[in-house]
Amino acid sequence: MTAPVPVSLIVNGTEVSRLVAPRTTLADFLRFDLELTGTHTGCEMGACGACLVMMDGEAVHACLVFAVQAVGSRIETVEGLAERGAIADLQAAFHVRNALQCGFCTPGMLVTAHALLERVDEVPSREEIRDALSGNYCRCTGYEAIVDAVTAAAQTRCCGGARPADALQDEGVQP
Ligand code: FES
Ligand code: FES
Repeated sequence: MTAPVPVSLIVNGTEVSRLVAPRTTLADFLRFDLELTGTHTGCEMGACGACLVMMDGEAVHACLVFAVQAVGSRIETVEGLAERGAIADLQAAFHVRNALQCGFCTPGMLVTAHALLERVDEVPSREEIRDALSGNYCRCTGYEAIVDAVTAAAQTRCCGGARPADALQDEGVQP
């Protein structure tokens, strides 16, 4: 058996240090060592997007990163994003638009949507939102409501206010 190795990284603004087995994924480290269970695991092979977290400002699949590879990095989980209010608009839009049912995929969807809205300075098209979300699987909602929610949040971020009802209708979104 391989001896545990020390890891030290910043998670949601706090430095954490633990001893972990070298094979421990970042997803398992967050969930089991730090009890940050908002990071979900589904496929554990980089396909479903349930485990997405921000790592040094980029969305990464925590199931594909070993904890030892994250040493020295800044990780932000869905809990951290929520606690600092960074995704409050997306959370509200998902709620209002009925963009979640069981909620299993929702943390990954929120991380992906946040990462998208952080890197654009205009409201992305529905095609761009769908492209960004193409690595996130949802077995409940059919995606339409999720794209609606991200569109609504993008309008608020990019246009500095509530989404105009006529613009929503132009895109086929029921306000
Ligand atoms: S659990 Fe990581 S992509 Fe599915
Ligand atoms: S809301 Fe259930 S998997 Fe997406």
